[in-house]
Amino acid sequence: MNKIFRFLALSGLVFFQTTLLAKPLYKDASAAIEARVEDLLSRMTLHEKVMQLNQYVHGTNMNLHNIGKIDDHYPLEAGSYIYYSQDPEMRNELQKKIIKETRLGIPAIFAHDVTHGFRTIYPMPIAQAASGNPVLVEQTCAMAAKESRLSGTDWTFSPMLDVARDPRWGRITETFGEDPHMNSIFGVATVKGYQGDDISSTERIAACLKHFVGYGATQGGRDYRQADISDNDLWNIHLKPFKACVDAGAATLMSAFNDINGIPCTSNRNILTDILRNRWNFSGATISDWASVSQLKDYQATVATYSEAAIRSLLAGIDIDMCSGCYSSTLDSLANINAVPIDRINEAVRSVLRLKFRLGIFDRPFTTETKREKRLMTPENIAIAERLAEESMVLLKNNNNALPLTQHKIAVIGPAATDRRIMYGEWFSHGDVNDAQTLLEGITHEFESQTEISFAKGCDFDGNDRSGFPEAIETARNADIVILCMGERGNWSCENNSRAEISIPQIQRDLIKELSATKKPLVLVLTNGRPVVLTEIEPMLDAIIEIWQPGIRGGNALAGILSGRVNPSGKLPVTFPRSAAQIPLYYSSRRGARFSPHGDYKDIPSNPLYEFGHGLGYSCFEYGNIKSDKIHLNKDDELTLSIDVRNSGDKDGKEIVHWFVTDPISSVVRPFKELKHFEKKEIKAGDKQTFTFKINPIRDLSFMDNNGNLILESGDFIISVKDKKLKINLE
Ligand code: NOJ
Repeated sequence: MNKIFRFLALSGLVFFQTTLLAKPLYKDASAAIEARVEDLLSRMTLHEKVMQLNQYVHGTNMNLHNIGKIDDHYPLEAGSYIYYSQDPEMRNELQKKIIKETRLGIPAIFAHDVTHGFRTIYPMPIAQAASGNPVLVEQTCAMAAKESRLSGTDWTFSPMLDVARDPRWGRITETFGEDPHMNSIFGVATVKGYQGDDISSTERIAACLKHFVGYGATQGGRDYRQADISDNDLWNIHLKPFKACVDAGAATLMSAFNDINGIPCTSNRNILTDILRNRWNFSGATISDWASVSQLKDYQATVATYSEAAIRSLLAGIDIDMCSGCYSSTLDSLANINAVPIDRINEAVRSVLRLKFRLGIFDRPFTTETKREKRLMTPENIAIAERLAEESMVLLKNNNNALPLTQHKIAVIGPAATDRRIMYGEWFSHGDVNDAQTLLEGITHEFESQTEISFAKGCDFDGNDRSGFPEAIETARNADIVILCMGERGNWSCENNSRAEISIPQIQRDLIKELSATKKPLVLVLTNGRPVVLTEIEPMLDAIIEIWQPGIRGGNALAGILSGRVNPSGKLPVTFPRSAAQIPLYYSSRRGARFSPHGDYKDIPSNPLYEFGHGLGYSCFEYGNIKSDKIHLNKDDELTLSIDVRNSGDKDGKEIVHWFVTDPISSVVRPFKELKHFEKKEIKAGDKQTFTFKINPIRDLSFMDNNGNLILESGDFIISVKDKKLKINLE
């Protein structure tokens, strides 16, 4: 009896310890992620699974396009939230509730659009590409990741990899420009900057590649429109940066709003599953764009009900529904009647759980609460933002060495001089516009000890009010040189900000014309998020500096360039047309059919005002000839090209060398030339640097056919750097 009793008691204890007391496997930090995912999945009800596939907003959504407000009624089982706070407290409070009050205590992920800084705002992506410095961009993104994660944000919706060739499209400023290779390199740098080697680190966040795919080809540059993309362009242009960033290990990906050839990207199984999952083996999580699941019914009208919208999106490959509510309101009942396979729901839930385990959120659900000054806008963070601003500004014109300035009396004129908002562009996360230094503040700080500085606004960015003209003209007359701070308002580009006219507005052009009558040298400091048309005013200007939307210390960066403390080194990642009527105009178009290969207009020159890759500096760089370690190679060989660049000027400077490849004869019509490599190096005055490019034929000499198969054709290839050329031969 005693024995039996002892046996029963012991068995009870073992059962109690192994079953009731033992930590479930998914809570065991030392277990493998896949085992934890499977263990947790096996414990979840259908409803709990479905809720993991939904994203809600937490906090007050201040984004004009997605206005939402604090909502206390969201279900605690939700998988993730867009988090509208720059402090961890609100996150921790919600996370505590989730862990305590839900059955399995699955912590949530907190996301935000951190696209060019969290609180320390640095230049917009188009400007980052102009820097030609992916190493610096990676460091800057790492800084943004650290500010984000320490503040309670685990996941950003960036980088944006839409190759854009229409400057009327407002979102061109969020891209790395018109070239697929450039988008790939800066995309990968951004992913690495955010994610590092391990996204569970308290200083790293998950990246999200967006918008998959073809959003940059939205028709007429109008936002949210259809995209009609040839298979040739899809494979050789639009998919390329995504493939590069998938290979770099990006944790998540967002679908695009647009349709491609009639199929909305949100419900496009070909791109989301056949290409992304099956061909590229992407193992991360996919998310829709904001409400794009319900838009299948509400706007694109490819389905009649929200249930159908949910089915189509889920089956196409969208794991998470961003804020449309379609998944949460329909998937439970659809799965119960077998209208969606449970296997597909399980697969999507696995993606979300895997992301949470990779982020370390199960093991560290709360963010340590620290003071803002410890984690935001530290001097080091501001310094790196300023460095990127310096490197991203592009000197477009500098007649008779108008710059750097040598004059004693400087007039600063124009609406952008004192406007903080232009410094930040859009999507500036938790940036506070009041942190931004203005252009005038930067100039004053740089010059005031030895120079007389006067200021007149002259006019606003737009409108017809010319009452400030006389004061501006008088100010110019009393100065030796005029710095015009003009261009676009801070909110004229980005989402839902397409523009038909991309010249700077008439009122600003009129002021420039009147100021040019004073015969004072005019330097235009141009702020904008897109290429603008400058054809009418360009002849009146002695110098033009493109500063884009340069971030928190853009004023200092500009002033450094004006004074010569900083030698400008940015180059255009996008073509500046002479007229909006030339759009689309980009350097890598395919060869035309007859004698005018680029396709001429009879009434204007057919070339752009400023070409892709254009950018001046204060040094004089002389290029030697391209050298190669061999001329013939086969497809498994590598070949090393090099070129010497000498700085024959008297200022140390940085030069970006662009390497292009042309395939003179190919079975399909190919671009005139394609960028395959670029590098930026510092070259001391009087010194020389050797730039190299190792050609890998499969990577650098191939193209994709219309089915996405890699084609490598033997024959000659022309390598070019500026006007230097070298022929190589693939056997
Ligand atoms: C819509 C935008 O298209 C996307 O880029 C952004 O990440 C989401 N809204 C979330 O704010």
